[in-house]
Amino acid sequence: MKKIVIIGANDFQNQLILKAKEMGFETHVFAWKDGAVGADNADFFYPVSIVEVDQILEACKKIKPDAVASIGSDLANITVSRVAAGLGLPANSEECVRLSTNKYDMREAFANAGIPVPMFYKVDRLEPYLFGLELPIIVKPTDRSGSRAITKITDFKDLPEAIEKAVEQSFEKRAIVEEYMEGDEYSYETISYKGKHTTLAVTKKYTTGAPHFIETGHLQPSGLSEQMLKKIEPVMFRALDALKVTDGASHGEFKITPDGKIRIIEIGSRMGGDCIGSDLVYLSTGYDFMEMVVDVACGKEPVLERRREPARAEIHFLFTLEDVEEMRRFQAEHPEKIYRISDLELEHAGHVTDSSTRIGYYITIQDLDDRSV
Ligand SMILES: Nc1ncnc2c1ncn2[C@@H]1O[C@H](COP(=O)(O)OP(=O)(O)O)[C@@H](O)[C@H]1O
Ligand SMILES: [Mg+2]
Repeated sequence: MKKIVIIGANDFQNQLILKAKEMGFETHVFAWKDGAVGADNADFFYPVSIVEVDQILEACKKIKPDAVASIGSDLANITVSRVAAGLGLPANSEECVRLSTNKYDMREAFANAGIPVPMFYKVDRLEPYLFGLELPIIVKPTDRSGSRAITKITDFKDLPEAIEKAVEQSFEKRAIVEEYMEGDEYSYETISYKGKHTTLAVTKKYTTGAPHFIETGHLQPSGLSEQMLKKIEPVMFRALDALKVTDGASHGEFKITPDGKIRIIEIGSRMGGDCIGSDLVYLSTGYDFMEMVVDVACGKEPVLERRREPARAEIHFLFTLEDVEEMRRFQAEHPEKIYRISDLELEHAGHVTDSSTRIGYYITIQDLDDRSV
């Protein structure tokens, strides 16, 4: 029997465990026990934190897997790349993972490749030269995700606190301060195999907006024109090359400025979280993205084949009890359009501070031309 090691077992990663089993793999899953929704689905579950790379690698040398994979998590992605390298299995290089998880290194790689970037600085405290930046600006930890400690600044008096917060959240205790780019936000979902990239889907992204930009929903297809989509692909592929992405899924966040320019926010060399990679791509295109990730992790060329009719697929995040009520109303009226409702953590209602403290989510699917949600 083929074996796969999966790094992470939370609600989002659980979908990969189920997929790998469906594909006939024996699943060996490493994750911290708390929140490990997928633990019961795994054939073998190891309660080891995903940051314990050496310990996981040692265990994997005994398991002798055919592939190592994860979806949708930067932290898990770092471990996947190191463990795969230690076992001689296909994955993006450690350098690629560094460039695609550290927001400062990423901006530098883009700038070196001639890809337009906003003005940006790496800091660990307030520096006088920052006052030379044009407002608004945005402050973020260099190496976190999930909208943690992100602040949009429209008045310099708020800058010290924002930097302090971002530095505190950062693993390397650094913040990146960069000029704010206007425009609607989207993400770009691709699969790469031996350095060749294939576009799978484009996602329209909805957030709470300033100051913290927590995702409220994602929709596929994006509604962008064919002409715009043709313009975006070469930009994203160049950016993937700049980050040395060769094998596996990627998730590129970008904005289209009011004058039609494409500006990259960040690219992760892993599937988009928030069910974008694990569910929305499959529902909106029919392509089995998770199967592709497993295939590439085994060194096999991914199969681009529609397994279902494309649909309009959307994930809606729940922030308040009113959101939950609205979902229940929609569910009563259109039960056939509900694809999944997550577990709900109602105690988070009213104090959502980042994407990990949302109440839960639901995914809707409907015909491509149906706009009822
Ligand atoms: N330079 C920027 N200009 C405009 N908006 C930004 C900028 N940087 C971040 N944002 C907004 O903040 C969100 C989170 O920032 P991001 O760099 O993607 O961090 P995270 O890793 O937490 O997702 C983005 O999706 C975007 O809405
Ligand atoms: Mg992001």
